[in-house]
Amino acid sequence: MPNTKRTLVTGGSGFLGSYLCESLLADGHDVLCVDNFQTGSRRNIEHLLGHPRFELMRHDITVPLYVEVDEIWNLACPASPVHYQSDPVKTVKTSVMGAINMLGLARRTKSRIFQASTSEVYGDPHIHPQTEGYWGNVNPNGPRSCYDEGKRCAETLFFDYHRQYNVQIRMARIFNTYGPRMSENDGRVVSNFVVQALKGEPLTLYGDGSQTRSFCYVDDLIRGFRALMSCDDSVPQPVNLGNPTELTILELAELVVQLTGSRSRVEFRALPGDDPLQRKPDISRATDMLKWKPEIALRVGLERTIKYFDAHLSGRQTRIHLELMDAGDTGIPAAPMHIIGRNGDGARI
Ligand SMILES: NC(=O)c1ccc[n+]([C@@H]2O[C@H](COP(=O)([O-])OP(=O)(O)OC[C@H]3O[C@@H](n4cnc5c(N)ncnc54)[C@H](O)[C@@H]3O)[C@@H](O)[C@H]2O)c1
Repeated sequence: MPNTKRTLVTGGSGFLGSYLCESLLADGHDVLCVDNFQTGSRRNIEHLLGHPRFELMRHDITVPLYVEVDEIWNLACPASPVHYQSDPVKTVKTSVMGAINMLGLARRTKSRIFQASTSEVYGDPHIHPQTEGYWGNVNPNGPRSCYDEGKRCAETLFFDYHRQYNVQIRMARIFNTYGPRMSENDGRVVSNFVVQALKGEPLTLYGDGSQTRSFCYVDDLIRGFRALMSCDDSVPQPVNLGNPTELTILELAELVVQLTGSRSRVEFRALPGDDPLQRKPDISRATDMLKWKPEIALRVGLERTIKYFDAHLSGRQTRIHLELMDAGDTGIPAAPMHIIGRNGDGARI
C-alpha cells in the first residue's frame, strides 16, 4: 500500500505553492489547494484543475478551516514588498491568524505541518552568512515589519504549538527564490530585471548595486521542502533553504542583460527603508540533516526564467514549465552589455 496522503497546501496557487502542488501530485498524494487569490493566479494551477487528485478551494486562512487532512503546508502569505506592503494589516493577520488557524487544524487532525518562513526573520543581519542560530536584526515598526515580524510571530506560534501540544512542525527559512511563474509586476528583483530587459526598458536598481543576494531556483527549493517535511526530526528546528552563491545586484543586472541580449541600461534609484545590504544562507544544517543542496546554476535558472517571461509577455499560453524541464540549449545569444552609469552619461560601469 503506497504511503499517499491527503495534503493541504495553503497559498497553493502562488509561485512556490503551484510547484509544490505539482510535486505532491506527482508522488501520488491528494492535494487540496487553498488560496484567497490575493497574489496567486489561477493560471499557475490551471493545468492541475482536471487532475483527479487535485482540488481547489477559495478560502482565506485568517478564517478557520475545517477539513480532514494528513499533512499541511502553510505557504499562504504575499511574499514581495509591493504586495505585502499594500495592505500591511492584512499581511500580519495572514501570518499570525493564519498560523493559529492552520496549527489548530494540525492539532485536531494530528497532521504534520510545514511553515514557509523566510530569511527576512534575520532582518538586516549583523552576521554573514546567516545561520539558524542568529536571532536577527529586525525593525519592529518599519515598512517591512508587517512581513518580517508577522513571520517571526508565526515561528513563535509554531514552536509553542509543538512544545505545548506536541504538534509535529517543520520550519523552512526560505531565501530569495526565482523561476517561471513569478508574478510579473511584484517588484522582486529577478522578475523585475528580466521583464524590463525583455521590454527594452531600463533596469531599475535600488541603491548603488553593491548589496548582495543569493538566488535559489524554484525546483531546488521544492526538493528542499519535500526533504524537510519527510525528515525524521523529533526536536524540530528552523532550516535555512536557499542558494549560498552570492552576487551583487549589479552583477545580477549585468547577467540578465547579457542573457536576454537586451539593449537595456541600468537606472539607479534610492534604496528603500530597511532593505538588507547582505543576504546569504549558511546551509550547513540543510546539508547535514537533509543531504540537500541547490544544484541549478544561476545562469541555467535565469535562462529558463527568461524563456518563460518571453513567452508570457508575447502572449503565448503554453505549458512552458514542462517544456523547460527538457530544455537544453535555450538559444539565447550572448550579447554585449549596455549598462549606463547613474548619470545616464553612457559611461560603462
Ligand atoms: N519566493 C520567495 O523567494 C520566498 C522567500 C521567502 C519566503 N517565502 C514564503 O513562501 C511562501 C510563498 O511565497 P511565493 O513566492 O509563492 O508568494 P506568492 O505571493 O506567489 O504566493 C502566496 C500565495 O498565498 C496566497 N495568500 C495570501 N494571503 C492569503 C490568505 N490570507 N489566505 C489564503 N491565501 C493567501 C496568495 O494568493 C498566493 O497565492 C510565502 O509564505 C512567502 O512568505 C517566499
